[in-house]
Amino acid sequence: MDKTQIIVEANNLTKTFATKIATEKGWEKKTVAAVTDVSLAINAGETLALVGESGCGKTTLGRMLSLFYQPSAGQLSIAGNAIDGLKNRQLKPLRQHVQMIFQDPMSSLNPRHTVESILTEPMKIFPDKGKTKNSAECRSERAAELLEAVGLSKADLAKYPHEFSGGQRQRITIARALVLNPAFIVADEPVSALDVSVQSQILNLMKDLREQYNLTYLFISHDLAVVHHLADRIAVMYLGRIVEIADRDSLFSDARHPYTQSLLRSVPTVTPNKSKIGRILQGDPPSPINPPDGCPFNPRCDRATDICREQLPAMEKVSETHFSACHHYQEHSSYNKSSNNKSSANSSEQAVNIDQLDNSGNPQ
Ligand SMILES: Nc1ncnc2c1ncn2[C@@H]1O[C@H](COP(=O)(O)OP(=O)(O)O)[C@@H](O)[C@H]1O
Ligand code: SF4
Ligand SMILES: [Mg+2]
Repeated sequence: MDKTQIIVEANNLTKTFATKIATEKGWEKKTVAAVTDVSLAINAGETLALVGESGCGKTTLGRMLSLFYQPSAGQLSIAGNAIDGLKNRQLKPLRQHVQMIFQDPMSSLNPRHTVESILTEPMKIFPDKGKTKNSAECRSERAAELLEAVGLSKADLAKYPHEFSGGQRQRITIARALVLNPAFIVADEPVSALDVSVQSQILNLMKDLREQYNLTYLFISHDLAVVHHLADRIAVMYLGRIVEIADRDSLFSDARHPYTQSLLRSVPTVTPNKSKIGRILQGDPPSPINPPDGCPFNPRCDRATDICREQLPAMEKVSETHFSACHHYQEHSSYNKSSNNKSSANSSEQAVNIDQLDNSGNPQ
């Protein structure tokens, strides 16, 4: 696959949900803006990480890009197919191009089905994918091949999900995601529910599979240390919007958005740096039902000025591979470097430790 080929292209994607909130007068209908005006592109073979606090819209964006949700507005194209306005029936053939890996492998695997049935099912739904000859024997062969690719064995085909550990179950969901040779995989917090030692095994596995099958990932996480290990680029989301997007090294060494800088300082380290205390992000994000005027981060930003409370900042170009939606992005470089060096270094240290393990979690 051509590495410069664009696999995912989103322009001004927006998703709103109708909801009801309790007020003194009873239930009131409101609109939640879960994702607002998101534009991004992901190239073949690239891993774009999506980070941000809980509730900022990561899963909603991931579900739009994996065709689970129809956007409320905006345009989306996957592997060259524009999906705007398509009906469910027209979307079905496109769904084979996109697969999702979920946070909780147990709830995403049918407990009544064997691993073989779980892995062969997608080949029955899309008989023209996978092996050219789609006989039961060929499907089984492909299932065994993928199970071995994720570090399990052919004998595991006959087992049920409850017979595996959490990490092994996540390996099965990864194998299932690969069955149809997808153009694009959305992994939504794929290691958050796993023990730390198992997390590194799964991350290394995803990295190895990416090289082996030239996979394109959207990797969703709230953890910058995890993202450092796998991402080529990182998009930071706040209150439904992308507020900064950059190649991994620029984001860790020269973040321009105060929210990204706060996230970097919040990365837990083995040796806590006392000078970080007090600068760590305080309070909760505002409600997406009633977002603030101007910059969505202004109520929590210690560098907000009048313009921040009045005007929504546009995405500004810091470099060819780095964009930041902050009115004062040019002023934040030196602040970032002097106060943040330690946290970036520590994040990198953690990632290097993960890098030193093979995909079974053993030191290399
Ligand atoms: N189906 C839904 N109905 C109403 N509100 C929703 C729905 N799904 C998500 N939301 C709201 O949209 C916002 C973003 O949610 P989500 O995408 O799950 O965030 P994240 O994955 O970053 O935690 C949250 O405020 C959430 O409550
Ligand atoms: S635009 Fe203003 S409020 Fe928003 S992040 Fe930048 S400095 Fe803070
Ligand atoms: Mg989520």
